[in-house]
Amino acid sequence: MKILVVDDNKMERFLLTSALKSLGYDIFEAVNGNEALSLLESKSINLVISDWMMPGMDGIELCQYIRLRKNTDGYVYVIMVTSKSEEEDLMKGFEAGVDAYLQKPITIKILDVQIKVGMRIINLEQQLTYEKQKVSRFADEMESLAKHRAEQLIHADRMASLGVMAAGIAHEINNPATFINGNIQTFEKFWPLIEKSLASNNQDNQMAFIVSEMPSLIDGIKSGTARIQRILKGLKSYARQDSTQFIEYELHKIIDDALLLCHNNLKYNITIIKDFMKDIPSVECDPQKIEQVFVNIFNNAADAMENMNKGTIKITTRTTNHKPLEEVGKDSHKDSQQDNQQDNQTAQNHVKIVIDDTGHGLSHDILRSIWDPFFTTKPVGKGTGLGMSISHGIIKAHQGTIKAENRPEGGARFTITLPIYSPK
Ligand SMILES: Nc1ncnc2c1ncn2[C@@H]1O[C@H](COP(=O)(O)OP(=O)(O)O)[C@@H](O)[C@H]1O
Ligand SMILES: [Mg+2]
Repeated sequence: MKILVVDDNKMERFLLTSALKSLGYDIFEAVNGNEALSLLESKSINLVISDWMMPGMDGIELCQYIRLRKNTDGYVYVIMVTSKSEEEDLMKGFEAGVDAYLQKPITIKILDVQIKVGMRIINLEQQLTYEKQKVSRFADEMESLAKHRAEQLIHADRMASLGVMAAGIAHEINNPATFINGNIQTFEKFWPLIEKSLASNNQDNQMAFIVSEMPSLIDGIKSGTARIQRILKGLKSYARQDSTQFIEYELHKIIDDALLLCHNNLKYNITIIKDFMKDIPSVECDPQKIEQVFVNIFNNAADAMENMNKGTIKITTRTTNHKPLEEVGKDSHKDSQQDNQQDNQTAQNHVKIVIDDTGHGLSHDILRSIWDPFFTTKPVGKGTGLGMSISHGIIKAHQGTIKAENRPEGGARFTITLPIYSPK
């Protein structure tokens, strides 16, 4: 146990230190506050016994400095030695961080008891610091686990909707593959004639026709393969599990890619109307994650219109203070007022995407729980109830907003805002 005795009076310091040494403590001495502070820096001292009245820095000021220091060696317990006349100022000392007082003339037995109390407090403080570190380490671990789990959940949602889309996508791929196949069969049929003609070097009329058809046949093959590649690329990148990465990206491209992925769910009875803002600024986002949000919304809209003869999905994009969109957004007076307020605050900093459908709309129960994980009104195997909760999380991580409401004409409306990209 290292104790520092601070006193400008040589005699009193001598008496105190020799008494403490006889009790077996490891003692350091300082004649003023500054000397005390430099010893504290170098000697890992646990307890300070300081005289109150000293020239220059007094005991209270010294205590304030001790409390301001970064406590690398643990808690420093401070005992202030007082004379009768200073008693009324005791409060001042406690406020400065003094732990205990010792009345002059000092009784060594009482001092020893005080030191023992001090040791107990120091031990408790040490334990507390250790526990605090443990808790904060645990909190850090929990935070990174939660982050990891959230990423896993996002991935699970991707995989679930991928499963639903996979059958449709297989059909999608089948289509261009069929016409590639057709073209190749024609090509094969032509080939012996080409060969023959090339061999005889005799270009008749039939050959001229074949030669003229050749570029369009090859074009067909090329565009078919390109389409397959595009579908497969979309599928592969959609299934990839990446951590969120924010980049500058074209909003309309993300929407178009999402539409392409959902094409099979949308193509039979659903008309897509795009009201895209010309020259819309690019957004700051993780394109894959935002695509996932659109895929979720489009698939939900398709499900909501599944039993109808025909339906419409209308996608409107604007910057936030764009007039026509405020008109689109005025479902209720209150809402549109809120929207306008938000528009003024974030003027031109965000893009706004409104997705309207003509499905069955959102019931009171759906509206209450739509953002909750695992909330679904769909049968097992079709719905996971993850889409909207994941989408909400994704948009929040982008510093954007997402809102669900009913259109007065019927059907659901989803409104998303996302920050416009600004170079750093
Ligand atoms: N456009 C919409 N129209 C009607 N209901 C919707 C729409 N979008 C979402 N919902 C409702 O919200 C629920 C939760 O959606 P979501 O989180 O995507 O899970 P899931 O689609 O797997 O059910 C759906 O089950 C559905 O009841
Ligand atoms: Mg869904």
